[in-house]
Amino acid sequence: MKIGVLISGTGTNLQALLDAERAGSLRPAEIVCVVSNRPEALGLGRARAFHKPALVVDHKAFGGRQAFEDALLEVLDEHQVAAVVLAGFMRVLTPHFLARFPDRILNIHPSLLPAFPGIDAQRQAFEHGVKVTGATVHFVDVGVDQGAIVAQAAVPVLDDDTVDSLRARILEREHEILPRAVALLAAGRLVRDGHRVRSS
Ligand code: GRF
Repeated sequence: MKIGVLISGTGTNLQALLDAERAGSLRPAEIVCVVSNRPEALGLGRARAFHKPALVVDHKAFGGRQAFEDALLEVLDEHQVAAVVLAGFMRVLTPHFLARFPDRILNIHPSLLPAFPGIDAQRQAFEHGVKVTGATVHFVDVGVDQGAIVAQAAVPVLDDDTVDSLRARILEREHEILPRAVALLAAGRLVRDGHRVRSS
């Protein structure tokens, strides 16, 4: 299954996907392009280092969300993408885009959803004082960080943590669960029943 990865930033989750692909553990998923909405995203260099098409669709260059999403869809179509992974992609996608990939878009979020959706989830969890947080892979639907949950990993919050140390501990687990979920999706092994997802 041909996968397009959308990024906005550093791209460590993209790196985990590239590494998994190289190791053979992403099969039958194949990363066919990486698209960033930010031209300066470091992840673009990671894609190029793995000889992947690394493209920019800068949201600032478009008059509205739909025009931006049409440009994204065009790039994904050019590469015959069948499923999309949001790996630190910081734009909300509208139903216009989502309708093109039903149950074919995964996102990684740095908390145990439904706790701490939205921006800077690690800081939200830290400031709330929870003792356990984590990472979630979920299908993307119209609600932000509300789609059906595919995989989760729990991460302890330690007494001497800072937001940054917690962020790093969560990120390690993100890098484990995201490639596994992508491989399951590509293998047709994720079965969604309403808001519940089984992996067969
Ligand atoms: C990750 O924490 C991810 O969960 C969130 O954005 C961050 C992206 O990090 N959605 P990276 O660009 O993959 O390093």
